[in-house]
Amino acid sequence: MLGDLELGYLGVEVPDVAAFGGFLADVVGLVPGDDPATWRNDSKTRRIVVTKGPRADASFLGFEAAGPDEWAATVARLEHVGYRVVHATTEEADLRRVDRLASVESPWGVPVEVALGLAEAEQPFASPLVAGGFVTEGEGFGHVVFATTEFEASHRFVTEGLGLRQTDWVETEIAAGIELEIRFYHCNPRHHSLGLARAPFDLPQRLHHLMVEVADRNDVGYAFDRAWNAGCVVASGLGHHPNDEMFSFYVASPAGFQVEVGHGARLVTEGWNQNRRYDRISTWGHQPIQPPHEAPKVS
Ligand SMILES: [Fe+2]
Repeated sequence: MLGDLELGYLGVEVPDVAAFGGFLADVVGLVPGDDPATWRNDSKTRRIVVTKGPRADASFLGFEAAGPDEWAATVARLEHVGYRVVHATTEEADLRRVDRLASVESPWGVPVEVALGLAEAEQPFASPLVAGGFVTEGEGFGHVVFATTEFEASHRFVTEGLGLRQTDWVETEIAAGIELEIRFYHCNPRHHSLGLARAPFDLPQRLHHLMVEVADRNDVGYAFDRAWNAGCVVASGLGHHPNDEMFSFYVASPAGFQVEVGHGARLVTEGWNQNRRYDRISTWGHQPIQPPHEAPKVS
């Protein structure tokens, strides 16, 4: 069923927690969660959990089940197809601000958690920078895209284990002899909650980007201006994707992996039958914006 799961939260390990937090607040427009190293983009108490460490990468990924039945069915399916699911203690679930928690190692090396009951924040959500707010209702907090050499094993894990369905895929030659293949997966109306890119060799970072969707198209532009004025590397300028039809840009975070800020993605529907190949990543735009770029650095 569409809506059994949604992307609940993402853990990231970064060398400079303060710089990364400043970027999430001042460029992306997220607001602090229930402790200073957590971040919100809606009514939930936390969506991104930041820890300090040498790796600049995702450290865990949480899918939130719609209810106890969906949680149990997801865990049972993972176990049935042979993945080793570790059931968390009450204390471990409390640490994640959820009622129930199970964890499984994904083939791309990031622990995936199946959670139930991610807590609501005490304060209503309001971002001083993103007046229109973020699109999360029934769709989760955004999407994440990982690169992996374990592409087919990851596909099986996502589809047969977690129970996500493939929405569509991109297969294209990005340079002479260099093929890029990305598969996109949904579990609710969001076009993709998870994307997997086939990596030709192990990359230093598994997390390529995380995406947050803003409700007002102008908030993409305002975020772009903030990235520009902060002197951030704009990895891909404003552009449009043909498959999810999202208008977006990509900015490099201080940890290297990127954040996509987008608007206007189309939704998948029950009985989705448009799982097909796209031969380009972008309809237009999304070019890297190269230096010189002389915007002042934010201190
Ligand atoms: Fe994306």
